[in-house]
Amino acid sequence: MSDDKQLNLFDDSNFGEPALELIPKDAKIPIPPGTYQTINQLAEHCQRCHRCGLGDTRTHAVVGRGNLQAPIMIVGEAPGQNEDETGLPFVGKAGQLLEKIIASVNLDTERDVYICNIIKCRPPNNRVPAPKEIEACKPYLLEQIRLLNPKIILLTGATAVRGMLGDKRGITTIRGTWIEWEGRLCMPIFHPSYLLYNPSREPNSPKWLMWQDIQAVRAKLDEIRN
Ligand code: URA
Repeated sequence: MSDDKQLNLFDDSNFGEPALELIPKDAKIPIPPGTYQTINQLAEHCQRCHRCGLGDTRTHAVVGRGNLQAPIMIVGEAPGQNEDETGLPFVGKAGQLLEKIIASVNLDTERDVYICNIIKCRPPNNRVPAPKEIEACKPYLLEQIRLLNPKIILLTGATAVRGMLGDKRGITTIRGTWIEWEGRLCMPIFHPSYLLYNPSREPNSPKWLMWQDIQAVRAKLDEIRN
């Protein structure tokens, strides 16, 4: 497909009434930065997206929830069953724990945070997203970041870290460290599901480490704001 044709796909006039046949079905067709003017436009395309095979099995594409002006974006791995059914990220048990973690430092999910995932559609049986699926979906995440302009991005778990930064180090090694990416501050943190399997709060346990990390995030946010 020529570049001209590509630009036409995303012409403003398409957004009022999305023409289904014009939405790219091939992950090789780029979605350039600046394609979307609003998250709603992006969500509209995600709901009809078939850039990878997950479009065939999803119930809903799960785009994001929270404040579009939030200073913090939290990026998870992929929707699970509850998320696929509701169309909202992190609404199952892991999500409830994430809410508690956020609230523990007086952050509010509706006000301070926007939550999304590396990929927007549920992989069958909750398997780890394949690199090809992550690549196909990544332009949506990059557009979300561009549109929301968060100051801080938290990457929950190794898949989110790999998908976003290409960093293959283990999560236990890099969690809690600030990594600058495209002028933004990113911090890898444990995935809340991992904490559900490791309930101990002993010093240096995963939960204890998460507590240190979320306090560091709160302190950084206060520093940026003041
Ligand atoms: N786990 C994730 O990584 N994302 C969700 O949306 C739900 C569970």
